[in-house]
Amino acid sequence: MSAWMVNGLYAVVLLLAATGLFFFVVTRGALLMRGLSSNQSETSHVYPIYSNMGLIKLVDFQPIISAILLFQYHRLVTTIVEGLNATKLKNKTVLITSCAFGNVIPRVVEASMQSGARRVLIADVVQNELTHAQTKLGQYGSKVEYIESNATAMNQKDGIADANILFFLLHELPHPMKIQALAEAGRLLAPGGKLYLAEFHKPQLWVLKVLSWTYFKVFEPLGLALWDTHDPLNCLNDMGGWKCERTTYFFGNFQVITATKL
Ligand SMILES: C[S@@+](CC[C@H](N)C(=O)[O-])C[C@H]1O[C@@H](n2cnc3c(N)ncnc32)[C@H](O)[C@@H]1O
Repeated sequence: MSAWMVNGLYAVVLLLAATGLFFFVVTRGALLMRGLSSNQSETSHVYPIYSNMGLIKLVDFQPIISAILLFQYHRLVTTIVEGLNATKLKNKTVLITSCAFGNVIPRVVEASMQSGARRVLIADVVQNELTHAQTKLGQYGSKVEYIESNATAMNQKDGIADANILFFLLHELPHPMKIQALAEAGRLLAPGGKLYLAEFHKPQLWVLKVLSWTYFKVFEPLGLALWDTHDPLNCLNDMGGWKCERTTYFFGNFQVITATKL
């Protein structure tokens, strides 16, 4: 191997290690530090990457976000968008429970408006995330409302929404909050309304299982429970009052659950 190839290899390894370290510091590492303090709040589980405006702007870059989801991001969002397109939403309200990076919010808002929705409510526990989301949705003006609210207990009336989107929120919540967020999603949906839930799923391929397990253990330990004790489909079925369908993607590594409120 020539010297420049060896140097190139070193550079790639260094870059990957630096990226991994950066993500660890702004996610799990920060939570570990926070855990040392006795000052806990309703946002203690939220990574700095979602609360610090500088970090939000730095990381919210579509190729990075797509790569984190193993280039399945577009497919997952498309499933939700197709669901919204196929739903009669004339004069209805669509709820997006928590912001997410990339173009999921603009695509969901656009699909909702095309299906006739009167308004889209975007809820997040972090105001900076809402402010950032607003920069992507300028053209929709007063049709989009932003509410600073915890997904587990929203200050909204029962049955206000006909569609509710939870995009990769559950795996970041402490376990009791996962159940509360699902129950709250159900409370906010009108009968016949649909919950679209995109999340990680236990992959079939052992190699993906090992890689995913390692990823969760290092970066997002709260996510592993989605593989068993807090499988969202089982949680919804246990709750009752839902008719659920699940589609998995990329050898089972991701899932979109479409749950209709009965
Ligand atoms: C939904 S996850 C998205 C993660 C995913 N990796 C992405 O961006 O594509 C992150 C968002 O959830 C929000 N969030 C976390 N806990 C929340 C809660 N309890 N209620 C509402 N929003 C919450 C964070 O503030 C952040 O905006």
